Amino acid sequence: MDIKEYLNDKRRQVEEALGDVMLPAEGPLSRHIEAMRYSLFAGGKRVRPVLCLAAAEALGHDPTPLLPVACALECIHTYSLIHDDLPAMDNDDLRRGKPTNHVVFGEAAAILAGDGLLTLAFDLMSDPALRSHISDTRRLRLIQVVARAAGPLGMVGGQALDVASEGKAVEFETLRTIHRCKTGALITASVQAGAIIGGADDSQYDALTRYGEAIGLAFQIVDDLLNVEGTTEELGKAAGSDADRAKATYPAFFGVEETRGKAREAVTAAETALAGFDQQAEPLRLLARYILTRKR
Ligand code: IPE
Ligand code: IPE
Ligand code: MG
Ligand code: MG
Repeated sequence: MDIKEYLNDKRRQVEEALGDVMLPAEGPLSRHIEAMRYSLFAGGKRVRPVLCLAAAEALGHDPTPLLPVACALECIHTYSLIHDDLPAMDNDDLRRGKPTNHVVFGEAAAILAGDGLLTLAFDLMSDPALRSHISDTRRLRLIQVVARAAGPLGMVGGQALDVASEGKAVEFETLRTIHRCKTGALITASVQAGAIIGGADDSQYDALTRYGEAIGLAFQIVDDLLNVEGTTEELGKAAGSDADRAKATYPAFFGVEETRGKAREAVTAAETALAGFDQQAEPLRLLARYILTRKR
């Protein structure tokens, strides 16, 4: 299997589904909707929705009818990027190769575009139209998993800790918590959502959770490395900004070489977690490798 082909295929499915679920920019709210659409359709890698789909497929389940759930994950992620770039947070003016949301629409509109995407995600996941494809009990569990991961004990908490740690020498434990929460939590939840859609039993769910945690860590370690080694043009967002803002990152803590080793270790842990799965989990294995070698 070719991971590029797989990614292209899944991304196409996700783009199409996002086009279906996203509100059209018309009527009195058109400017607000346009602001949400601007960031949502700016060309993200769609890693979280693809992971969700691949996890369900690893369990032999066709997740196509539940594409709105995968879209919800991308809405939450996109909201987090819009808010992350705000002047009060990372103060970045480039994202996904385009001027950031607040640069184009203004700060208030960007905050509201983020709020809108976050809330829309829960609308999508709780849509009664999905009833014929997943039981309410399983869906409620899925929604809580995603809410927990996005909220104060997950992504939002991680962002709070990230901001509070700027310019400070933090302990490794704090750095680990920042990475686990700000990035790892939603990536893990994306895999868990796929596991719930796919009807995982307890041991499959635990294994997929371990996989998600490991690639979530690898993903942020590689993000830290790319901030040091990549170019702004390749990344579509500012390179070198972590050092400028004295962010708590793996390269700042361990240096580049040791950081690379830690990313590889995390990917190995992810592969180990999938040992009990058959050929249907091959996309998940390849996605773990892709996360390690990605250039943007
Ligand atoms: C960037 O996420 C922010 C982090 C959590 C590291 P992605 O690298 O998935 O960004 P997009 O969605 O492709 O723009
Ligand atoms: C982003 O972390 C994490 C979230 C948006 C939740 P960073 O601030 O390190 O990511 P980039 O480099 O801006 O994408
Ligand atoms: Mg940040
Ligand atoms: Mg940032």
